[in-house]
Amino acid sequence: MHQTNPEILIVDDTPDNLRILTHLLVQQGYEVRAATSGQMALESIQLRQPSLILLDIYMANMDGYEVCCQIKASPETQDIPVIFLSALGDQSDKVKAFEVGGVDYITKPFQAQEVLARIATHLTLSQLTKTLEQQVQERTTELAQALQNLQQTQLQLVQQEKLSALGQLIAGIGYEINNPISSISGNLGFAQNYVEGLTDHLKLYQSEFPQPGERITQHAVKIELDYLTEDLPQIMQSMRGSADRIFRLSQSIQTFFRIDVNHPVLFDIHDGLESTLLILKHRLSASKHRPEIQIIKNYDLTIPQISCYPGQLTQVFMNLVTNAIDALEEAWKAPDANQRSLRIEIRTLSLDEQKIGIQMIDNGPGIPAKIRAKIFDYLFTTKIKGYGTGLGLAIAQQIIEEKHGGKLECHSFEGQGAEFVITLPIESAVAKSNLEW
Ligand SMILES: Nc1ncnc2c1ncn2[C@@H]1O[C@H](COP(=O)(O)OP(=O)(O)O)[C@@H](O)[C@H]1O
Ligand SMILES: [Mg+2]
Repeated sequence: MHQTNPEILIVDDTPDNLRILTHLLVQQGYEVRAATSGQMALESIQLRQPSLILLDIYMANMDGYEVCCQIKASPETQDIPVIFLSALGDQSDKVKAFEVGGVDYITKPFQAQEVLARIATHLTLSQLTKTLEQQVQERTTELAQALQNLQQTQLQLVQQEKLSALGQLIAGIGYEINNPISSISGNLGFAQNYVEGLTDHLKLYQSEFPQPGERITQHAVKIELDYLTEDLPQIMQSMRGSADRIFRLSQSIQTFFRIDVNHPVLFDIHDGLESTLLILKHRLSASKHRPEIQIIKNYDLTIPQISCYPGQLTQVFMNLVTNAIDALEEAWKAPDANQRSLRIEIRTLSLDEQKIGIQMIDNGPGIPAKIRAKIFDYLFTTKIKGYGTGLGLAIAQQIIEEKHGGKLECHSFEGQGAEFVITLPIESAVAKSNLEW
């Protein structure tokens, strides 16, 4: 059994005391080191930590209290038990010995048995404390891990539930609107041609028969024929425009609330960005309280489709744009606000052969460093109750990093707007899902 025996450092400037104590302890099988001054003791402890220290109080230059204070001040040595030795039986000495961090006090002249018993007790205590601390540490780590797992599961549940319940409903509506509106939109095209034909025909009549007779003339006045023939094509045009808008919206709704299959598919992220913006259109336009929020698009249209979960990515875009809108609305409340425009810039770019990037930059109030450290935390929000959930960025990060193997980062300084950067692999999501199969 070569487990080293406990090592005890004896600090005493009286050689006789050192000799007697060393002899006693070596006999008991302890490893012993000696120091004849406070300074020497501190240096010796720095070199190697003993299991316990026997420390004389009255020494020249640096007394035992001072040595003990220094030992306790350093995190590396503060747990070493210190037993004070003193010739004086003065009560205040004892009190001070405990105050500076000693665990015990032995009065000289001492009895060998007493010294040994106290040393053994404190070594055991110190060992027990260490084991206990380690156990607490292990348990804490386990608990923290369990908590994190729980939060992750909860997030997934929230996310799945949101997408599947509400998403399915809305995607269903989008789908149902799709057919009738594409029929309206298509037929309006024909109707427009027919109306043009009829108008031309009518004009032909008018030029061939300039005197159509009393009844026709009266009827023409009654229905305001001139105005009608002029207005009808415009009405048709505007109806067509609206029908097209509804058509695009229904497409976007379907893209946005797409129910993802459980494997990634090829997707053009610009479609995702556009459908997100269309769905958030009502929040971007001017309101009673503030001007319109401008969207500046800097798309690199040459970037390839990526393999991903489109429904989830659009949710990330939605969370980021919504946050930017919230931030800009907040910024608008500031006293000097009407000096500025409200802007969100969206950039897409190709980073290298394997990665693409999406940046969302707003010119809102920015995020102070202290808050920035926490924005991705589950349930962290600075918004008033009932307004923020504190889930948006946590979900976004989970989707980007865990589901897609990408990265979501935030760069922001107080007063200088915020920038969120998404990095996504073009391919790796597929590889990952292959592993899962
Ligand atoms: N673009 C931004 N500008 C300023 N602060 C932001 C921005 N985006 C997020 N934050 C901060 O991060 C916090 C967490 O965001 P999020 O997880 O989406 O939760 P919520 O929006 O419900 O508060 C917000 O409460 C806000 O303090
Ligand atoms: Mg949010």
